[in-house]
Amino acid sequence: MKIHVYESAQAIGQAAAALFAAQVLAKPNSVLGLATGSTPVPTYREMARLYEQGAVDFSGVTTFNLDEYLGLERSHAQSYYHFMQENLFQHINVPQERIHVLKGTAPDPEQECLDYEEAIRAAGGIDLQILGIGNNGHIAFNEPDTVFSTQTRVVNLTESTIQANQRFFASADEVPRQAVSMGIGSIFRARRILLIATGEQKAGAVRAMIHGPVDPQCPASILQLHPDTVVLLDRGAARDL
Ligand code: PGA
Repeated sequence: MKIHVYESAQAIGQAAAALFAAQVLAKPNSVLGLATGSTPVPTYREMARLYEQGAVDFSGVTTFNLDEYLGLERSHAQSYYHFMQENLFQHINVPQERIHVLKGTAPDPEQECLDYEEAIRAAGGIDLQILGIGNNGHIAFNEPDTVFSTQTRVVNLTESTIQANQRFFASADEVPRQAVSMGIGSIFRARRILLIATGEQKAGAVRAMIHGPVDPQCPASILQLHPDTVVLLDRGAARDL
């Protein structure tokens, strides 16, 4: 892993967006793996700015998002589909038909997951995948104790993730208990991974990811074995390194 520490979330956003822009300049038909959550918001803002400036053209790009809550309509304000439209896709020029977000209301979620894996394969695999990390070390909704070989599938959220995500809902009761999520195996196949983390509340998980054993207790620790992972941290998230 290559680890870089920045002074602010804003600086991480600029660095991460620059890596996306470089990827797309080098390969205009890149397949980008995208993530939701608070951490990538500055990255997406900066990608939109680079696009507005004419520095990067996303018209040839295909995207796949990591996960979606099970049972939420795409129009729901907390769906990850809605989040991505608001925070990124409305501001750049990825063709809508090449945007892939798992459907949380698919009639057969298991089949939706199989089809999603197949769509990633058919697109040629993910070139650059951005990831956040949960306070508990999760990547996407792959919670502690997830087998490393997992593929896209239906998952149960842990109590710690429900608590962490309740800030977006009226109460913890409204947070969906299940999601559809790319697996650790699916994520690991990305050619390049960019993990970003900000704030002291991530310091323990970041330490376990980088210095702990490669152990399903910290799903992100698998990235120690990935051939091309870049980690961008602020001082808070890097506190315990
Ligand atoms: P956050 O979520 O960016 O909102 O902290 C990250 C995650 O849970 O993976």
